[in-house]
Amino acid sequence: MHPEILVVGSYVQDLVWRCVDFPQPGETTVGLFGSGPGGKGSNQAVAAARTGVRTGFVGAIGADSLGRSAQEFHGREGIMARFVTKKAHATGTAAILVNQRGENEIIVALGANAVLARTDVPAAWLRSARVVIAQFESNLRTTAFVLRAARRHGATTILNPAPMRGDATAALLRYVDVLIPNEREFIALLRLRGVTIRESQWREMSSARLQSLCRKLEVPTVIVTLGERGCFVSQPDLSILIPGHTGLKVVDTAGAGDAFVGAFAAGLRLFDGEMIRAAYFANAAAALAVTKPGTAAAMPPAREIARFLRQRRTSL
Ligand code: RIB
Repeated sequence: MHPEILVVGSYVQDLVWRCVDFPQPGETTVGLFGSGPGGKGSNQAVAAARTGVRTGFVGAIGADSLGRSAQEFHGREGIMARFVTKKAHATGTAAILVNQRGENEIIVALGANAVLARTDVPAAWLRSARVVIAQFESNLRTTAFVLRAARRHGATTILNPAPMRGDATAALLRYVDVLIPNEREFIALLRLRGVTIRESQWREMSSARLQSLCRKLEVPTVIVTLGERGCFVSQPDLSILIPGHTGLKVVDTAGAGDAFVGAFAAGLRLFDGEMIRAAYFANAAAALAVTKPGTAAAMPPAREIARFLRQRRTSL
């Protein structure tokens, strides 16, 4: 049996410190510590799998205890996982700070993720998956290969360009069907296309201007995630702002983008490829994810998303 959704990307052990306010440079502050499974690729696989769609994950780990717990975790989540052990590298780790408003700051050490190779990705999975997701938290050459091969085999390809990197090029967008950046990543991608936007211009931007900027990326569907303001979906002849869900208690925003991406991919399978319905579904999943602590741990299951949409009187 092969996965319907294939995520090729990162597994990272999250080391999380909760604090009142982020420390300033040179400042020490007291906080609370916790640790759990994370990594953008793995989080997205968890988000998709929890909606009940058959999901596969390919990633690299070190020959260490963090790598072993990654495998156990994916086993418990029912993900079809292929972890490749890279003996000369450690499992990736992330230092995550979360303040009292639920905002986050993250530094990730890629470790084994940086050397994930194209030969690590099972060809049969690439041939048969209907939706393939990649991010920038892995080896970029492998990411480009995966997107190209998946497109050739007729899958819908999704790229979440996170974290944005200095070595990312516009050529990576060529094989992408759906691009899902956050605001900062979107501005950085535009720069790769020679368009400069100041962050100060961003807040006042009209939907028409945003649509024309999205089109400059030359990707069929661009979905810019806007945090608590929801998301903007852009296609060549359509654009729509899906508002964020208000009135929720924000506990931890880390991983909300991953909840969106994983649930969007699942939505494509659940709603027969209908992108706007999938985006509404993803918007709800991301809203729920910020109400819980942790990243992978906060990904909502299908029944929770369905209940939430009922409460919000949103029918998909
Ligand atoms: O998107 C959140 C993720 O980014 C965290 O789980 C952390 O591992 C970093 O990769």
